[in-house]
Amino acid sequence: MATWKNEIESRKTFAIISHPDAGKTTLTEKLLYFGGAIREAGSVKGKKNQRHATSDWMEIEKQRGISVTSSVMEFNYQGHRINILDTPGHEDFSEDTYRTLTAADSATMLIDAAKGVEAQTKKLFKVCSMRGIPIFTFINKLDRQGRDPFELMEEMEDILGIRSYPVNWPIGMGQDFHGIYDRHAKKVEWFNPDSPSQTEVVYVNGTDDPKLKERIDPQLLAAFQEEIELLDVAGDAYDEERIKSGELTPVFFGSAVSNFGVQNFLEYFMEWAPAPVGRESDQGFVSPLSDNFSGFIFKIQANMNPKHRDRIAFMRITSGKYSPGMQVNHVRIGKNMKLHQPTQFLAKDRSIVQEAYAGDIIGLYDPGTFRIGDTLAESGTFSFEEMPHFSPEHFAAISVKDAMKHKSFEKGLQQLTEEGAIQLFKTYQRVPEQQIVGVVGVLQFEVLEHRLNNEYNAHIKMENLPLSVARWVDGPAEAMNTFTRKQKNLALDRNDRLVALFENEFQLNMAKDKYPDISFHENSYFV
Ligand code: G4P
Repeated sequence: MATWKNEIESRKTFAIISHPDAGKTTLTEKLLYFGGAIREAGSVKGKKNQRHATSDWMEIEKQRGISVTSSVMEFNYQGHRINILDTPGHEDFSEDTYRTLTAADSATMLIDAAKGVEAQTKKLFKVCSMRGIPIFTFINKLDRQGRDPFELMEEMEDILGIRSYPVNWPIGMGQDFHGIYDRHAKKVEWFNPDSPSQTEVVYVNGTDDPKLKERIDPQLLAAFQEEIELLDVAGDAYDEERIKSGELTPVFFGSAVSNFGVQNFLEYFMEWAPAPVGRESDQGFVSPLSDNFSGFIFKIQANMNPKHRDRIAFMRITSGKYSPGMQVNHVRIGKNMKLHQPTQFLAKDRSIVQEAYAGDIIGLYDPGTFRIGDTLAESGTFSFEEMPHFSPEHFAAISVKDAMKHKSFEKGLQQLTEEGAIQLFKTYQRVPEQQIVGVVGVLQFEVLEHRLNNEYNAHIKMENLPLSVARWVDGPAEAMNTFTRKQKNLALDRNDRLVALFENEFQLNMAKDKYPDISFHENSYFV
């Protein structure tokens, strides 16, 4: 096999999904630390702050002390190249949090042992399960008293519909936390609260090995032995296929802040997580090992450098190898173009890419030529599957204050929609039609107002609408006819697909009962 193909096979591109405060920043730091990309914890947070300081619309984020931008981090670990797609931890995330997941080949779900499956994890999980990607679970904060591990597994099954395969299992918890037992490799990693990251590893001959008796009090040991027996007898067995398809999640316990259990997780992850996976296109499946370099734009970020008002389009390389000076087809606009100085992102810096392979993410300078979902290919005119839109959760009617500024207002709205910062709808029945903006997190409204004002000199009027759910609808012609005549709050998305807007889930369910022949899709994918 040619070496560039080995390069591709050595890659792991994944995202961490979690609810704010579960410890994602902490876990990311530890992973970067293992990869030698940072020397000490805190560097990632430091970097976030720095980036805020150099970006003007991110001023909003700075004032609120949060981050709404997703970033990509890369490091090498034991012959593997790891790309972590970071997703914002705050509730005010935007739609591109979801879309970032389309660039990942697997996900790590991080759960706080005391809190279990929380709202944001559930939302992000749904997107992963829609794509059927493998999901690895890290249950964090075992150094504190949390919930019963069986209860957490049950919750994952009830709320997320995924079965668990615990690879390791905690011996005690909180004050009583002794360490983790690796069921697969039959070894114990002892936890020492005084120097938690200095892991002492002992191989054992099952759970009744005398080495365990020496260190665990009889009551705790008996409970632990019983738990392992229960898992062995009644739990799901290791099943590679079910893990690959996202039906079964390997579960790991640990404490990110103590750097405990992180390496155990990382080592299994390296072995089990998929190498870059190909993608479907309108002309068939594109294999990552194809000679033809190709990729798709999944995220556009404006103003990474305020002096230049630049936009960076993030591309996931789907197949082949990138080399400098390469010419590609921009399939949507039918033009051949040179890729100018793509950048890659390390823990601290951006650097110019010399070579990149399927599975990698590169940032392309974007003078306004790219849209979310665009395909670039060295040869051929195929397009990758359309990027899905997901239901916004907040809606506002929007118009420009000064009619003279109408043109730049429209241009701004269009650009922000292309970047994926907002979704734009227009009312379906209302005359004159009205523009409606939908966002996943309310902070995006502020970003929108700030940017239209600053970059397009357009002052806007925004009126919040009492709506929180959008569904893309379709059905047989006759049923659609009745539906569009009778249903209120219908709108068209930017591709003129019909969308029904509802105040809440209750209203949506009423519509489902009333119009059984109509299908209500949670995202634009299925229409
Ligand atoms: P996020 O990115 O998911 O929002 O979470 P982040 O890593 O910022 O962690 C949230 C809080 O949880 C932090 O505490 C962090 O130290 C703590 N934490 C992370 N992992 C563990 C763990 O394994 N055990 C325990 N006990 N705590 C953990 P903080 O007080 O909010 O911030 P800090 O002052 O400690 O940085």
